[in-house]
Amino acid sequence: MKKSPDAVEIAPGTHWIGALDPDLRAFDIILKTANGTTYNSYCVRGNKGVAIIDTVKESHTDEFFTRLEQVTRYDEITTIVLNHLEPDHSGALPELMRRAPQAKLYISTKAQLMLKALVKNIGLDFNIVKTGDTVDLGDRTLHFLSTPFLHWPDTQCTLIGEQNILFSGDVFGCHFCDARLFNDQVGDFRFSFEYYYAHIMRPFREHVLDALELIEPIPLTLIAPAHGPILREAPRSYVQRYRQLASPLLHNEVGASNKSLLVFYISSYGNTALMAQAVVAGAETVPGVRVSSYDLQAGGDLPFVDLIEEADCLAFGSPTINGDAVKPIWDLLSSLVSIKVCDKLGAAFGSYGWSGEAINMIEDRLRGLKFRVPIKGVRARLIPTEEELERCRDLGKQLSQHLTGKVEHRVISMSELLTSSHV
Ligand code: FEO
Repeated sequence: MKKSPDAVEIAPGTHWIGALDPDLRAFDIILKTANGTTYNSYCVRGNKGVAIIDTVKESHTDEFFTRLEQVTRYDEITTIVLNHLEPDHSGALPELMRRAPQAKLYISTKAQLMLKALVKNIGLDFNIVKTGDTVDLGDRTLHFLSTPFLHWPDTQCTLIGEQNILFSGDVFGCHFCDARLFNDQVGDFRFSFEYYYAHIMRPFREHVLDALELIEPIPLTLIAPAHGPILREAPRSYVQRYRQLASPLLHNEVGASNKSLLVFYISSYGNTALMAQAVVAGAETVPGVRVSSYDLQAGGDLPFVDLIEEADCLAFGSPTINGDAVKPIWDLLSSLVSIKVCDKLGAAFGSYGWSGEAINMIEDRLRGLKFRVPIKGVRARLIPTEEELERCRDLGKQLSQHLTGKVEHRVISMSELLTSSHV
């Protein structure tokens, strides 16, 4: 592999001036980076001004300024654009603004608060931009596209209109360091592109779809992301891949008019399994809901994440063991970090021996994930009685009614309240 390159011209008038971080092995704690990463920054020269698009992580500022000085003087810089303020892209900003004090900084509306939080004690002037706003560099024009929540609220993209070159920030990026820089020259990075999407963009699928509405009509000639290879070979294929990834992953068997309710359970002696069957039976009495149940004894979390992403309601059944829900339940719940779950319906139920904390703990976790938990869960001491199974059937029925907008408002007696809050 080549040594670290000098500044590299990626299109007429535009240079890559970023930094390479080949030894990084974890990003943001949770992302594995077997190939390290790059912090991509770009310099765009027009006949009336020079723009710097994004900077680099603070630890790599020397490398960044060395490359920047190969292609421009600081007094030529008229424009600095930050598409995203996470420190891996804003780390060199204060020093850049100190060296080019005449330059105007352009950020998105939602970046204002973050800028103040990240660049403390320095009074920076900035301009707020949104879709439709432009900056004139003479023979080149920067167009801004508001693409929030990819993957922070502040994110935006910037386009050179005359050349259809998109500076996409984290979008279409990946953690893959290869000094050959271009997608048609680096090693095979497909796994990294998919991994990055799955962990960074997937939870914001709806915002990805909004951004694609803006990006897809552009006849892109090159995508210059903030991490990983520069996409000059078939750039639009990466846009198409995002469209595929952001579309429902499963065959659409649950009709558009049907809601999907999933029951996940695990059972030590068959008691929580009996309760799960009752929840399913109750849920099935309401037309328009497709009800499915899965025994976590036989399956890990990964097969279920796609199902959960497209489901409307999840009910979790767990016994209480040593004052806690059991590990397969927590594993499944922690796997949901990569998808959007807020506003789904959630519920919990389970059998217990002497304390029964699992139900409240699961409900608390569901609320923490922003599920709606409209119905108090059902607990049964050891073998559920017929009355407790009836309450499970009622739980399932009520969940389905909530999904279909047929909620029956019922009067809850004081004895029922006391029973459900302290068993
Ligand atoms: Fe590459 Fe979200 O920072």
